Amino acid sequence: MPLPPLVLALLDALEEPALLIARQRTEAANRAARALLGAGLVDQDVRFAIRQPQALDAILSGREGRFEVRGIGGIERSFEVVLTSLDTGLLLVRLVDRSARQAAEKAQVDFVANASHELRTPLATVLGYSETLSEEGELPEPLRRRFGEQIHAQATRMMTIIRDLMSLSRIEADRFSAPIAEVRLDALVREAVVAAGPLAESRSCRIELALADEPATVRGDLAQLRQLLDNLLGNAVRYGCRGEGGRVLVSVADAGRWISLIVRDWGEGVSARHLPRLTERFYRVDAARSRDGGGTGLGLAIVAQIVERHRGLLDIRSREGEGTEVEIRLPRV
Ligand SMILES: Nc1ncnc2c1ncn2[C@@H]1O[C@H](COP(=O)(O)OP(=O)(O)OP(=O)(O)O)[C@@H](O)[C@H]1O
Ligand SMILES: [Mg+2]
Repeated sequence: MPLPPLVLALLDALEEPALLIARQRTEAANRAARALLGAGLVDQDVRFAIRQPQALDAILSGREGRFEVRGIGGIERSFEVVLTSLDTGLLLVRLVDRSARQAAEKAQVDFVANASHELRTPLATVLGYSETLSEEGELPEPLRRRFGEQIHAQATRMMTIIRDLMSLSRIEADRFSAPIAEVRLDALVREAVVAAGPLAESRSCRIELALADEPATVRGDLAQLRQLLDNLLGNAVRYGCRGEGGRVLVSVADAGRWISLIVRDWGEGVSARHLPRLTERFYRVDAARSRDGGGTGLGLAIVAQIVERHRGLLDIRSREGEGTEVEIRLPRV
C-alpha cells in the first residue's frame, strides 16, 4: 500500500527511529531507523529490521504497548519500544534511545558504591585501633601513640573525602548559573604557584611560569578557579615531577575568544587506556600510590565540573614516559 508523501515526511521529521508495519512487512522506515537498522528494510519482512526477540514478538502480535529492550543497534544500547496501532491497520514502531539515561543511572549506582567503599576502608582502621585503645589493660606508650596517630590520619582522610564530595555537589548544583565575576587568571596562577611551593620543594620540583605580558582576564568564579589550579598543580607535582631536574611548566596565553591555561609536566604520563577515565569520580591509575600521597581520585572530577560550569574546555593529553599536559580554556572577558 503506497503511503502518502506527507506521512513519510512526518515520519522523517521524528528524531527517533520509527517504522510503519503492516501485515509483518515494513511499509516505511524513517531516516533515523535506516541509520540505526540499516538501509533496505522497506517492503521486507519485519524480521529484517527487528531481530530482538521480545520486540519482534510484540510487533508481530500487533498490540499497542511500550517496554525497554537491549540488543537493538548494539548490545550496550537500550531502547524503549513504543507501539501505537493506527486505525489504518498500520503499526507505528518508535525506538526511543534510553542508553544515556541507563548510563547515568549506572554511574550513580557506581558512585554510591565507590564512595561507600572509599569511606569504609579508613573507617575500619579507626574502629579497629579505637577498640584496642578502649580495651582494658595498659598499652606501652609508643604503641598507644602509634594507634592514636593512625586514627588521626584515617579520620583526616575521611574528612578530605567528605570535603571533596561536598565541594563536587556544590559545583554541580551551581552548574546552570555561569559565573559572572572578572578574574585575573595570571594573578591567580602566581598565587597558586606560591601555594604549591612547599609541596614542590619537598619533591625537589621546580615550577616555572610562562605568562603573557597583557593581563589575562576571564569570566569566572575566584574560589573555584583557585581550587582548579591547586588540583592541577598538585597532580603535576605529585605524579609528574621526578626528583633531580624535575619541573612543571604553567603557561597562560591568549587564544582568540579563550584564555588558555596549560599545566605541563615531564613525568611518567598516563596510558591511552586510562586517559578518558581520569575525570571519573574516584578514578586513579595507581590507586595505592595515589592513596599513599593522600589522593582520593576526586580532583580531576572537580576540575571537569568547574570547567563545565565556566562553559570552558578541558583537554588532557598524555603519553606514557613523556609526560602530561592539561589544557583548560576559559571564556575571556
Ligand atoms: N600529571 C599527571 N601525570 C600522571 N598521572 C596523573 C596526572 N594527573 C593525574 N594523574 C592520574 O589521574 C588520577 C586521578 O587524578 P585526580 O586528581 O582526579 O585524583 P588524585 O590526585 O588521585 O586525588 P585527589 O586529586 O582527589 O587528591 C591520579 O590518581 C593519577 O593516577
Ligand atoms: Mg589530584
